[in-house]
Amino acid sequence: MLFFEQLISGRDVMFKCLIRGVFLFVLTTQTVLGASTEAVYGDKAMISSRSTLASAAGIEIMAQGGNAVDGAVATAFALAVTYPSAGNIGGGGFAVIHFPDGRVLTQDHREKAPGTAHRDMYLDADGNEVKGLSRDTHLAAGVPGSVDGLLDLLERHGTKSRQEVLLPAIRLAKEGFVLDRYMARHINTVGKRLQDTPAAKKVFSMGDRLVEAGDVWQQPDLAVTLQRIHDKGRAGFYEGKTADLIVAEMKRGNGIITHEDLKNYRSVWREPVMTTYRGYDVWTMGPPSSAVLVLQILNMLEPYDVASMGYGAAELIHLMIEAERRSYADRAEHLGDPDFWDVPLEGLVSKEYALKRFADVDLEKASDSDDILAGYPAGKESMETTHFSVMDSNGMAVAFTTTLNSSYGSKLVVDGAGFLLNNEMDDFSVKPNTMNQFDLIGREANAIKPNKRMLSSMSPTIVSKDGKPVLVTGSPGGSTIITTTLQVILNVIDHGMPLHDAVSMPRFHHQWTPNRIIYERYAFSPDTQRILEALGHVGLMEWPYGRGIGDANSVMMKDGVLQGVKDPRAEGVAVGF
Ligand code: GLY
Repeated sequence: MLFFEQLISGRDVMFKCLIRGVFLFVLTTQTVLGASTEAVYGDKAMISSRSTLASAAGIEIMAQGGNAVDGAVATAFALAVTYPSAGNIGGGGFAVIHFPDGRVLTQDHREKAPGTAHRDMYLDADGNEVKGLSRDTHLAAGVPGSVDGLLDLLERHGTKSRQEVLLPAIRLAKEGFVLDRYMARHINTVGKRLQDTPAAKKVFSMGDRLVEAGDVWQQPDLAVTLQRIHDKGRAGFYEGKTADLIVAEMKRGNGIITHEDLKNYRSVWREPVMTTYRGYDVWTMGPPSSAVLVLQILNMLEPYDVASMGYGAAELIHLMIEAERRSYADRAEHLGDPDFWDVPLEGLVSKEYALKRFADVDLEKASDSDDILAGYPAGKESMETTHFSVMDSNGMAVAFTTTLNSSYGSKLVVDGAGFLLNNEMDDFSVKPNTMNQFDLIGREANAIKPNKRMLSSMSPTIVSKDGKPVLVTGSPGGSTIITTTLQVILNVIDHGMPLHDAVSMPRFHHQWTPNRIIYERYAFSPDTQRILEALGHVGLMEWPYGRGIGDANSVMMKDGVLQGVKDPRAEGVAVGF
């Protein structure tokens, strides 16, 4: 091992940690392990995530005999340490799990509104939204769900102990890891407001100066919090010292999460939503996720010969935009927490509804979003989320998306506990037809109520064939999560792309309102743009932010071999063996 570390001396400790892990796996498994941003191949296990160290943490557990769920839980806890802008224990997420016998289950550990939350809590006396209240304050935090969800996932479907899967995360928080240039800059720029409160500054600085590339960044308070979870399970977070620290933090900042809210939080197992698409089964998260839109759009596209049209063809882009326009209009009207709102789910995913909903599409002309109202189905984020994909060779797969909502959530740290509070309350519709940070609007279905879960776009998705998982995918990116996930699926199934290309190719997005098409550079050639404009599409806008749309870290089983691809738009690696 020393030899390996000397070999890479001069490189960062992050890489050393990975190599240390890799070396151990090679020793224990006698197999060659790959770790790269190119496609990585393996026989037994594969994880693709936003953080090199988190992928390695999950693979460490799988190399010790753990299954895909063990790997996913270890990765998720490690992400809370190594990728704190989205990885978390103070937020929430969704997991879609494919079992070796072909069953698929989904787990919802989305945050909930606190017990004293109310519909108009972000409005002033005149009924106007108070800007920032649902995003930047203690009032923005929903009751965190990640810890309950991860522990329940592990207890029911993992094979390893809580102590084993938490160990890499505790080690990373306690011993620290070297910040690379990207991460140091991200903390200081995207996370600028982290310097505004003493509790966050304590975690996200090096005492009297900002963090810098090359610093060994330790998170001692977070290590102790993780150790309490290690020792006491959910009680180590939702009760006792951690709960006291959360409630004290709330009192300091006029937040409303109580001991009772924390004690009562429970994640929920829900039936997945599913549709067939060209001989494949596509499984994803039902409400309070709006991933059902991925299925609706696939249903609308299925009657068309997408493969012959070809990737990037204006006629296909036109069809996709029209399908997106209609499904996002449905989202605003029909989707919310199913425990509080009667979501017409069966109707929304039915092939009949898709045919009806798409019947008015004009192949020669764009529709106007103002003319597209919600349909009537039968039965009636900078943004920062993160997605990772895991698969083992036994047919178990996990698609997992987790978030604090904005980058670093509310930017508020629970003093003494070392973790960030989410600002997920902004995903509620704070006022009918008022845009949230992703320019999404909502209505009654997603209005705030005590203990209700806010609507999400997180779309962890598994595509299977004949009862075996083929593709695990999903993405961060607020409202663009849905269209990113869709495009990876179309690229694989319709365009026959290798996974690396399916994940890397330029993407675009439309969400009904605002009526505009955002696209990555190179997504549309100049003549494609001209054709789209001639069809009547408006608001073509090159994606203005950093590296692109989404971060679709995906895993695939092809010809009996596992493949992992880290989306090249951001850091991290796929690791497998
Ligand atoms: N917070 C982003 C989402 O759940 O859609």
